[in-house]
Amino acid sequence: MLFKSLFQILPLLVSVYAIDLKPGIILVGDSTVKWDGGWGIPGFAEVLNNSTLKLFADYGVSGATTTSWQTGPEYPLALEACAKGNVWSYIQFGHNDQKVDNTTVFNANLLNLTKILRKAGCHPIMVTSLIRRNFATEFVPVDILEPYRNETIKVAEILHLPYLDLWKSSLDYITKLGATQSHVFNWGPGDNTHLNPFGSSYFARIVADLSIAHPVLPMHYFPLLRRNETLSAKIKAGEL
Ligand SMILES: *[C@@H]1O[C@H](CO)[C@@H](O)[C@H](O)[C@H]1NC(C)=O
Ligand SMILES: *[C@@H]1O[C@H](CO)[C@@H](O)[C@H](O)[C@H]1NC(C)=O
Ligand SMILES: *[C@@H]1O[C@H](CO)[C@@H](O)[C@H](O)[C@H]1NC(C)=O
Ligand SMILES: *[C@@H]1O[C@H](CO)[C@@H](O)[C@H](O)[C@H]1NC(C)=O
Ligand SMILES: *[C@@H]1O[C@H](CO)[C@@H](O)[C@H](O)[C@H]1NC(C)=O
Ligand SMILES: *[C@@H]1O[C@H](CO)[C@@H](O)[C@H](O)[C@H]1NC(C)=O
Repeated sequence: MLFKSLFQILPLLVSVYAIDLKPGIILVGDSTVKWDGGWGIPGFAEVLNNSTLKLFADYGVSGATTTSWQTGPEYPLALEACAKGNVWSYIQFGHNDQKVDNTTVFNANLLNLTKILRKAGCHPIMVTSLIRRNFATEFVPVDILEPYRNETIKVAEILHLPYLDLWKSSLDYITKLGATQSHVFNWGPGDNTHLNPFGSSYFARIVADLSIAHPVLPMHYFPLLRRNETLSAKIKAGEL
């Protein structure tokens, strides 16, 4: 395990230290990653504010699946960004794929897209789907995204890439919060999927903390991401 981790870290360390290469991040995914409804902006932009790591762009797209995303204008822009080198691409799909494709198709599409981004020069980081804040009773969430979460992890394992289990962490958090408090994050009334700016900052914090804790990401070794111990502690305690 140790040797595997070191093996994976070394190229990252070298690229972070490379002279004149400004390290950056792009976000790739659906509306739950996007600005105005997802954890990308304002949430993750704030995590990266004044950091040596720049948010080059949030390429989250409303309604996007692993296939439809490649037909939009964000796709060539992302490939261009990857070509700069020293760019980490957070990739999170599932919400819309779950509506149209079974897990076998999702796995193949996600594998394909991730390989393309990697070939273009990015360091992909797989992110499992943000949980929907649907509940059967006050403290019992209901979820149908888990099979897609599992496929995202499988893709990471097949390609030997790091992954952040946002699905699990967001599920744990909303289970502690309960339905009433979880719905404070809703983008609009009854919208249990998308995030208002307040929710964006909370779930971006979860993504940031997973990035910091993860043993194979450079964020673990360098102060590249802004901490917010107060918010991290609240999330850990299951409080708002
Ligand atoms: C970045 O931080 C500065 C100072 O705290 C703040 O004024 C600014 O609005 C922030 N920018 C973003 C994009 O969050
Ligand atoms: C931004 O970073 C610089 C260099 O690390 C630091 O001196 C400055 O206080 C920071 N500003 C904010 C608003 O965090
Ligand atoms: C998944 O969908 C594809 C395409 O529609 C189909 O060929 C395949 O049999 C399906 N697999 C399962 C396990 O349902
Ligand atoms: C992978 O994506 C490329 C680019 O969109 C597409 O041409 C190709 O058919 C895809 N391959 C598979 C196996 O889905
Ligand atoms: C997802 O993976 C976990 C851990 O391997 C497993 O316990 C769970 O049953 C899987 N869920 C689905 C829906 O496949
Ligand atoms: C940290 O999070 C809290 C919310 O719990 C917020 O009030 C505060 O402004 C945040 N601090 C920074 C430096 O972003």
